[in-house]
Amino acid sequence: MTRDIKKIIKQMTLEEKAGLCSGLDAWCTKPVERLGIPSIMMTDGPHGLRKQREDADMVDINNSIPATCFPSAAGLACSWDRELLEKVGVALGEECQAQNVSILLGPGANIKRSPLCGRNFEYFSEDPYLSSEMASSHIKGVQSQGVGTSLKHFAANNQEHRRMTVNAVVDERTLREIYFASFENAVKKAQPWMVMCAYNKLNGEYCSENRYLLTDIIKNEWMHEGFVVSDWGAVNDRVKGLDAGLELEMPSSFGITDRKIVEAVRSGKLSENILDRAVERILKVIFKAIDNKKENADYDKDAHHRLARKVAGESMVLLKNEDNTLPLKKKGTIALIGAFVKNPRYQGAGSSHITPTRLDDIYEEIKKTGGDGTSIIYSEGYRLGNDDIDEGLINEAKKAASGSDVAVIFAGLPDEYESEGFDRTHMDMPKNQNRLIEAVAEVQTNTVVVLLNGSPIEMPWVDKVKAILEAYLGGQALGGALADILFGEVNPSGKLAETFPIKLSHNPSYLNFPGEDDRVEYKENIFVGYRYYDTKGIEPLFPFGHGLSYTQFEYSEISVDKKDVSDNNVINVSVKVKNTGEVAGKEVVQLYVKDVKSSVLRPEKELKGFQKIFLNPGEEKIVTFTLDKRAFAYYNTQIKDWHVESGEFLILIGKSSRDIVLKESVRVNSTVKLRKRFTDSSTVEDVMADPSAAVIFSPILKGITDTLGIDMNNTHDMMVANVKATPLRALPNSSQGRLSEEMLDELLNKINGID
Ligand code: GLC
Repeated sequence: MTRDIKKIIKQMTLEEKAGLCSGLDAWCTKPVERLGIPSIMMTDGPHGLRKQREDADMVDINNSIPATCFPSAAGLACSWDRELLEKVGVALGEECQAQNVSILLGPGANIKRSPLCGRNFEYFSEDPYLSSEMASSHIKGVQSQGVGTSLKHFAANNQEHRRMTVNAVVDERTLREIYFASFENAVKKAQPWMVMCAYNKLNGEYCSENRYLLTDIIKNEWMHEGFVVSDWGAVNDRVKGLDAGLELEMPSSFGITDRKIVEAVRSGKLSENILDRAVERILKVIFKAIDNKKENADYDKDAHHRLARKVAGESMVLLKNEDNTLPLKKKGTIALIGAFVKNPRYQGAGSSHITPTRLDDIYEEIKKTGGDGTSIIYSEGYRLGNDDIDEGLINEAKKAASGSDVAVIFAGLPDEYESEGFDRTHMDMPKNQNRLIEAVAEVQTNTVVVLLNGSPIEMPWVDKVKAILEAYLGGQALGGALADILFGEVNPSGKLAETFPIKLSHNPSYLNFPGEDDRVEYKENIFVGYRYYDTKGIEPLFPFGHGLSYTQFEYSEISVDKKDVSDNNVINVSVKVKNTGEVAGKEVVQLYVKDVKSSVLRPEKELKGFQKIFLNPGEEKIVTFTLDKRAFAYYNTQIKDWHVESGEFLILIGKSSRDIVLKESVRVNSTVKLRKRFTDSSTVEDVMADPSAAVIFSPILKGITDTLGIDMNNTHDMMVANVKATPLRALPNSSQGRLSEEMLDELLNKINGID
């Protein structure tokens, strides 16, 4: 339906316009009935609908209507499956339509800077390319159902500690290559109806009033068509925020900031045009929501539960599988151990908490799938709610395990270890769980550990167990999905979307997380996750991109359609993958790029492509990738743009970031000449390193060094080193007048191309 929004805005009073820029209550926008502007509802997300009951107070966070609880983002990202994420989005959109929710508050695309962040379960990855691809798919899926999304939390909200006041200090290149990149393509390609600004400050300015973020980047560079909403309670100065590009404040300010906007316009402190532009962006989304509303919408709960089971099965990561301990045979006795069997941790705490439509019983699902040939002995092993070691429970578990053919221990992180609102202070699992695993492994060589956790953990027992399955927080169908994988009904195909370091102190943010007082400095810069471990050669416990299968895949015949290309062209890469095992399976083919030699510090490799493919036994497929300039570029802060340095690059095809199976060398030629700006502080070496400047400067330099009797070809001579390190400003003196100050000015103009 077409509406003349500008005409509607003209009919609105100043108070009505100001009022539209803050919520009606915790979840809805204000209506303006007389002008036919309805109220629309937005609510969480991201991996399930959390719509609070009518009578629930905003802080009554868990009192929400039933909805399908899908695996949280940490697990979803391990599927590396764009189509699957889109299907989850479609299902979420259907549930929002059925519950009259117009915008789902998600996905969360914040980068996992440290394994300790309490909300890592709700975010996708340590890698910006994977994260933005997953976020894009999620957004496309939801919005395909006529429901909006709110990509969050922009930007540099990578810890929970002091999240509402902390100042994240991040350099420009790191922001561009890591923390913005995780949002960039999701905004550009998927156009979320909203982007939610973060609570924290970025480089001294609250995100909720940071013009650079909310206008320069999101609107002017990324051409965002929707509007920016604050995180709940993130507004600091409402008028400054509106002026900076924050259109909607949530929740309602109960008129307080509405009046401030009115006063600011009346006093001339805020231009009414700014207000009108904000109102226009908000109205466009409101009317889009209304036009896309599906009356009497409903959804198939059973179908969504089946989808949740499929998604969980494709997201779990088989980290270890010695002697092909998995899949389990459907015969004999299985010791099922751990309180998580009866009370599984299947989701995270905080604003993403869902009331599931149902919850699988792990014990029942394993019993059902295991069939009559399988008998199961359950043993609690540890109690939830405290970390105390209970030797009685451990002895019972050892007895159950020793009398069985295999022991499957369910362990991980309890709710109190990680959540929205607080971070972890270590990477340990509860000591009663670690003790249990060690004790059971002593009496049962066939010990399998299933992990239910939202973020990486240290595994002191990693060499004592035969198999480890990382299930993350697998949602309401976790039980069925686990049974499918444990018995081989589903062949695991997940790959880690984050590195599991051997110990916390190996993590690059270790010395600067969560910062001191209200300041956290991202001193590791672009070296986040595998970018750090691979560049430093630090062995991880399990690397980014790692994940085993019940079958084997063979890679061959990498080829590129161009070996030498300019940076404004593309390179098409292809590789053949074959299933050489006995069972069908899915493989994630990963493509990394390495800049062989660069004048700036760059990571050892960076993920620039991935494809997930299904292959029957013996089947082979050709997988292709198209690499454009951004696959080779770094962000150059001088020219404030992405820049490719001419030279050799390696295209690396990997089964993980550490298991590179094929490589191909290509040369990329820059079409952008970086114009160096020389000053009188530039050194002789600086000038001679630039070919066009050296042509002009060489004769002058030769005249000076001849006079001084210095042979510049004698590269290991201290005097030669001194000359190279000499700033131009010192030459008039050191040249004994051969190069006057006027001549130096003239020289600088010439080598800077200034006529
Ligand atoms: C919370 C979260 C945000 C959520 C919002 C509404 O504080 O940071 O992710 O969408 O408030 O619940």
